[in-house]
Parts: sequence; structure tokens; C-alpha cells
Amino acid sequence: MSTPPLIIAVDGPAAAGKGTLARRLAASLGLPYLDTGLLYRATGRRVLDAGADPFDPQAAEAAARSLTPADMERGDLRGPEADRAASAVAAIPAVRAALLDFQRGYGRTKGAVLDGRDIGTVIFPDAPVKLFITASPEARAHRRWLELQAKGAAPAPASVAAEMAERDARDEARAAAPLRPAVDATLIDTTSMDADAVFDAALSLVRKRFHA
Ligand code: DC
Repeated sequence: MSTPPLIIAVDGPAAAGKGTLARRLAASLGLPYLDTGLLYRATGRRVLDAGADPFDPQAAEAAARSLTPADMERGDLRGPEADRAASAVAAIPAVRAALLDFQRGYGRTKGAVLDGRDIGTVIFPDAPVKLFITASPEARAHRRWLELQAKGAAPAPASVAAEMAERDARDEARAAAPLRPAVDATLIDTTSMDADAVFDAALSLVRKRFHA
């Protein structure tokens, strides 16, 4: 019997460290990596390009259905406007449905590490490894502020914290695939961990699971 492809689901709120972790896990295990947030970000961007409202279900579904690989490589998928548009389209069930097959297909042959909000709950409920990466709201807001500063922006720390709280609240409260840990996910609280410590903890969990 052949072993099924290895899927590692990495979920959690914004700026908890899941992207960094997922990328490192993928590189060290030789697996493809998909940042699923980019799908929602690219969808939001397309809606804005069309002059439409990211909360409009029809405009958002049309944008999700017409995504191309080039959309995911745009240079304007980050920043407050893109954050808000992504969070708005992500609450629309038809958008989530439009993006489902692509995500499932991505890991089907070679396995994959995917990061997002609903990978362990909806996209790959049978994933053998599910990690839920979290950190205190203060730590996450501070990390995001440092990231923005490094890019040359100078937002007020309070506005970064407020925007993140608004986005978290929408991601958690939405009816469609809300942000929450899968019942069988392992929680890692990164509030006082650096990226190396998070990676070591996650990798040892994967190794234990597979006796690798
Ligand atoms: O991970 P991120 O910050 O790039 O995600 C952007 C937005 O997309 C965020 O508001 C949550 C949403 N998202 C989602 O609902 N489901 C996913 N699998 C990934 C992201």
C-alpha cells in the first residue's frame, strides 16, 4: 500500500509566525509550500482593481474564479488596504468555495505544507499534522509593526493593533470556516519564542509523529 502524501496544516491568526514556520518546515522536509492567504489577498486586489466593494459577494466570487498564478505574484498584496480587502472577501462562502479545489489539489500528489486559517478544519481535515500557531495580540501587533517599519512605513503602533484586532474579529466571527484550532491540532504559543524555537518545536513534533 502506498503512503498518502504528507500534508502539514499550519493555521493561526495574523503575525503569529505561521508563515515563517510553514516555509521553514517545507524547505527542511522537501515539500511544496502554499501561503493560502495570498489567494484571498489576490482576490481582494482584483475586486479593488474592478472598482467594486470587497464585501460584495458577486464581485468577490467573480474575482476568486478568475485568479491566475500571476495574481499571486503581485507586489501590492500586503499593507492595510490589501489586508482589509482580503479579510472581507474571505468571509464570503462563495469565495471560499471557489478556492477550495485549488488548495486541495495543491497537496494531492507530492504533499505540502499549507498555512492559513482553515487548513486543518476545512481544507485538509484528515491532515496527519495540524499546528495552530498563536501569540498574544500585543506580541502579534508589535511584530507586524516591526515588519511595516522595516519596509519603510511608519504607522502608529495603536493603529496597527486596532486594524489587526478588527481583522482577527472578522476572521473568528464569520460563519464560513471561522478561524479556530482543529480539535486535533497542536497549539504552539509563540509569544515568547523566537523563530528558531518555534521551528525546532514543530519539527520535533513532525518527527515524533512519523518516527523520522
Ligand atoms: O494569512 P494572511 O494574513 O495573508 O490572510 C489574509 C486574509 O485571508 C486574512 O484576513 C484571513 C484570510 N484567510 C482565510 O480566511 N483563510 C485562509 N486559509 C487564509 C487566509
